[in-house]
Amino acid sequence: MDRSLYANLKETRASAQALVRSVPPSERRCMHHKDLSPLLWHLGHLLYMEQQWIGERLAGLEHDATRARLFRPDGLRKRERGARMPDLDELTRDWTDWEGRCVELLGMAESAHPDHPLLADDFLLHFLIQHHGQHLETMHQMLAARALALDAGDFVPPRALTPIAPPLDYQTWPGGSCEIGDDSRHHYDNERPRHILSVPAFAIAQYPVSNAAYLGFMEAGGYHDDRYWTCEGRRWRESAGAEAPWHWRRNRHGSWYGVDHLGAFELSPTAPVAGLSAYEARAFARYAHARLPHEVEWELGVRMGLLRDTGQVWEWCDNRFYAYPGFRAFPYRGYSMPWFDGAHTTLRGASSISDASIKRPSFRNFYTADKRHISAGIRLCRQPYPLH
Ligand code: AVJ
Ligand code: FE
Repeated sequence: MDRSLYANLKETRASAQALVRSVPPSERRCMHHKDLSPLLWHLGHLLYMEQQWIGERLAGLEHDATRARLFRPDGLRKRERGARMPDLDELTRDWTDWEGRCVELLGMAESAHPDHPLLADDFLLHFLIQHHGQHLETMHQMLAARALALDAGDFVPPRALTPIAPPLDYQTWPGGSCEIGDDSRHHYDNERPRHILSVPAFAIAQYPVSNAAYLGFMEAGGYHDDRYWTCEGRRWRESAGAEAPWHWRRNRHGSWYGVDHLGAFELSPTAPVAGLSAYEARAFARYAHARLPHEVEWELGVRMGLLRDTGQVWEWCDNRFYAYPGFRAFPYRGYSMPWFDGAHTTLRGASSISDASIKRPSFRNFYTADKRHISAGIRLCRQPYPLH
């Protein structure tokens, strides 16, 4: 077992525990957003995952059905979770017990089954670090939802955001073959197998769309101009009542500011816009005489050095999440398989709160198009030759 990897896992555990401890006890079982489980659930789920994969699967410990029901995603419904959670002190004791045994269990498993597929190349440690990091990101989204609910609407940003026209910073791919995906053992199943694709010419923006450019769309009446919206997008916009990114607020002087897990902040004109659903991202792209990239174009763009500033916001792609040809589920069906259902859109890149362990060209995220709390924005794409 790689010691420094184990140290990374310990860090993600400690961050999750510290995050839950940082909010008042009464709020640890709240849901500040209908899609986001209570913070205590995430902490219990991380422990459950370690006990299931290291304890049960590798070391042959007994299955604990009560714990599974509490902390498996298919156990309790999200809104039933809060009231059923153990408190933080109890969960912390369970964590401490587990951390005291974990290294020994891993060591025993390594000597008993040196060729176990979960142990080869430290797969399980990589898997748990990335898994925990993704849940930490979701926990930060919960803190942002909480800060939004508490925000008084009176923050005065030092400088007001001013709108600009859509950017024209396109980089061209002339067309040709490219490798997509990555077979590295510590990557997720949905990134495999690596395959070669012939990709026609396209042009992709060097930078993600900025806050100032998105304000340009808003002030041009983008939210109310039906030319930019699909039927589904219009239905979403009306039912969500969307008129600005999820975490934008306007004070009584009419200035926009943002709210994240740390509270209110000034929206930088050049920072990538976030807080958008795929419907808003598509509407902006249409307004800018462009489209969203297919995820293959995005990955190719990164591999060819065409993209800058990846890893600050998730970037909505133009396609549904799908299985690469020859896909095989590993280590369990549930990580990717259920989401190849045609209802999920791919996102690429990562956000500023994503763990470093998932910031790579082949990483694929997936959500339904209506989600706005995941820190997702826009990168424009279009045919290579300007139309004007
Ligand atoms: C890929 C980010 C949508 O958080 O629901 C965590 C990742 N899978 N535990 C999620 C995941 C199992 C997943 N996302
Ligand atoms: Fe999980």
